[in-house]
Amino acid sequence: MGFLSILSLNLTPSVFALAVLGSVFAAILLRIIYCQFYHPLSKFPGPWWATSFSIVGAIISVRYKEPRFLTYLVKKYGTERPIRISPTMLLFPRPSTARDIYWDPKCNLKSGLYGTGALGPPSIFATLDGEQHKQLRKALSNAPWTIGQLKNTWEHRFDEQVTLFVKKMKEHAAAGRVVCLSDKVAEFAADIMSMISFTNAFGCVKNQRDEKLILTNWRIGLNFFGFVGRFRFFREKIIPMMFVGKYFLPSVDNEVGMGWLMSEADRQVTEREKLIAEKEFDGTPDFMQHCLEARYSDGSTLTPVQKRSHVSLLIQAGADTTGTALGSILRFLTTTPEVFARARAEIDEADRGGHLSKPILYEETRRHLPYFVACIKEGVRLNPPATNLFARIAPKGGKFIDGHYIPEGTEITSYAYVMQRDKELYGEDADKFRPERWLESEKRSNELEAVQFSFGMGPRVCFGKDIAYMEMFKLLPEVSFSEPATIAGG
Ligand code: HEM
Repeated sequence: MGFLSILSLNLTPSVFALAVLGSVFAAILLRIIYCQFYHPLSKFPGPWWATSFSIVGAIISVRYKEPRFLTYLVKKYGTERPIRISPTMLLFPRPSTARDIYWDPKCNLKSGLYGTGALGPPSIFATLDGEQHKQLRKALSNAPWTIGQLKNTWEHRFDEQVTLFVKKMKEHAAAGRVVCLSDKVAEFAADIMSMISFTNAFGCVKNQRDEKLILTNWRIGLNFFGFVGRFRFFREKIIPMMFVGKYFLPSVDNEVGMGWLMSEADRQVTEREKLIAEKEFDGTPDFMQHCLEARYSDGSTLTPVQKRSHVSLLIQAGADTTGTALGSILRFLTTTPEVFARARAEIDEADRGGHLSKPILYEETRRHLPYFVACIKEGVRLNPPATNLFARIAPKGGKFIDGHYIPEGTEITSYAYVMQRDKELYGEDADKFRPERWLESEKRSNELEAVQFSFGMGPRVCFGKDIAYMEMFKLLPEVSFSEPATIAGG
């Protein structure tokens, strides 16, 4: 119809092209004018190009530049006021503001950037509504998430994996092979997650490879998750179209990666349900068993999709995150020789005093290696392994945060990488790996602890924090204690 009317106007192709270009240009200009002068967030500082088009943030994210970009914005605009980082989102750089966002029950509605489906079927992590989340979290709290329960039920199984890991690294060292230790510890974390999810590990450590390319594909999937979540038009208009979603989102038909994990979760859940239909489960319950036994307050079970999505969620949420923590702490240690020397001396002394088992127990690290624990905390502070925009929605009627009125519906977020480098709180050496800052006094350590955001905060804080710390407390001193040749690598 439009084409016919153009014909009837007798437009030449070049005039038509000019008209189209002119309309696109006018639309872009109008959008910029609206976002910069009339949008409810226009009074907040932020670069015009990122605050007019959400695709800018999406591109920055897939190019792995987000931490650097947000650090630049904080340097440019300061921490006095929230910074507008996209057309609809405000970043709160001050550590003290995180509590206001994440502990306020009225802000417990997650932003749509979680709900893209890029990580597979909806799980607790992707449940946007606060009330639904609360019910689901309560139902899943039957699993051993806390350190006390983990020590009783799982630590001996962690020990087997740690021992195997050290053995494999020694084999590489003896053969003079160079290995990338960051990859190896990520494979270790993937095995731990598969072990506690399904009882038996996938075998990444045993076979010294990324089994079923779980980690590789997770990282590819994260790019998509980051892009689609930030690019609002894409997530709200394009992804819901059936054929697009089918093309981009993981599927059980995939032979590797997240799609494979979804089909593996399906296979394992179906098999286990068949078994327990025949006879009561009598083994040590793994996390899959806890998902199957989870009950809502009215006694109902998780839906079949929920059971499968939670079994695979644990591996998604806990493998590469913990792997990144393990790898980056080792990098900090090996690139800061004076810290590494002090940490090793502490381990040596504790060992000479007969305080360390083989492999080292969680409780022994906590009690006898305070400097090493400070190294772990400092590593998690400086290189938060899950650097995402964990945005919530400002409630009906808006909200005051740090003295600023935030209009209702605004996406509001903290960002660990920026907050945990705040010079006002950490001092001029905020960017430096200095574990000593955690040992100055108990008061200071508590003050720092209270504003750490690496594992999130409030009712949606990471479920697996203690599991991740158990891995760090056990594997890292063990690896650091081994012969230097063992940890030499790319
Ligand atoms: C160093 C390792 C880890 C880091 C840095 C990390 C970080 C986070 C963060 C920041 C959140 C909150 C996100 C938000 O507010 O939306 C979260 C949630 C979650 N994490 Fe972790 N995580 C780690 C390890 C693990 C492990 C090992 C598991 C599995 C056992 C796990 C399971 C979860 C789950 C299930 C949630 C969703 C909780 C909810 O929404 O109620 N995480 N994690």
